[in-house]
Amino acid sequence: KDFQDQMVIDAGQKHFGATVCKACGMVYSAANPEDEAQHVQYHQRFLEGLKYVGWKNERVVAEFWDGKIILVRQDDPKYATKKMEDVRELVDNELGFKQVALACPTHTQTYLFISVNKIVGCLIAEPVRQAFRVLSEAAESPTKNSLEHHRAWCCSTKPEKVVCGVSRIWVFSLMRRKGIARRLVDVVRRTFLFGSCLSTDEIAFSDPTPDGKLFAVKYCQT
Ligand code: ACO
Ligand code: ZN
Repeated sequence: KDFQDQMVIDAGQKHFGATVCKACGMVYSAANPEDEAQHVQYHQRFLEGLKYVGWKNERVVAEFWDGKIILVRQDDPKYATKKMEDVRELVDNELGFKQVALACPTHTQTYLFISVNKIVGCLIAEPVRQAFRVLSEAAESPTKNSLEHHRAWCCSTKPEKVVCGVSRIWVFSLMRRKGIARRLVDVVRRTFLFGSCLSTDEIAFSDPTPDGKLFAVKYCQT
């Protein structure tokens, strides 16, 4: 028994520290075969979920040299809405959202960035009437510790009129910083409302993560 315990401790010390998969984001211990097997399984399911073979009636809203953006609506054929839900689940999982309901599912529009038969970006937009501006640096006084600073942004109490809420925005981790999120938001502004182009003041990012906030601040400035 002692011997067994010792083995476990040794293994733990040799490979102490967790591995984070750069593709699927799973944190696991490479020293633990069970953990590793679980990762392989999760990793495959993750990539399977992002696979996109093309649909007969796909709604292409933008094309680029390195991909295209398609729009999926709630009343689209089942194969399209099923894929959209799978991707949303994967994104929510990565964002740590647990069953965050959409404000208005029937009017939700999902934009998918496709590159080489893979979904590498996703933006879920919903109609929203008002939003509260994040008061960026006010809450981040140097006396606060980093944990606190990380946790809560401080919001204005004055509602502002907006048209479109970005409920989720996500880009596949290996494809970040290639302007995919920027192009998704550009397309939302052009296509969310028929016949008009929304200004950056008319869209709001709901409950942003630190990455999301950095992106949104940069996007809205330029
Ligand atoms: N750190 C600093 N600046 C950033 C970052 C970052 N992590 N991400 C984007 N920016 C800024 C940069 O200025 C960038 O331009 P540059 O690369 O020329 O410097 C500019 O924003 C445009 O960035 P994109 O390349 O268009 O952004 P990307 O495609 O990498 O996607 C996103 C950004 C969606 C936030 C991505 O990092 C991601 O998926 N993160 C994990 C999921 C997440 O946190 N999503 C936001 C949730 S909040 C919400 O859904 C409302
Ligand atoms: Zn992985």
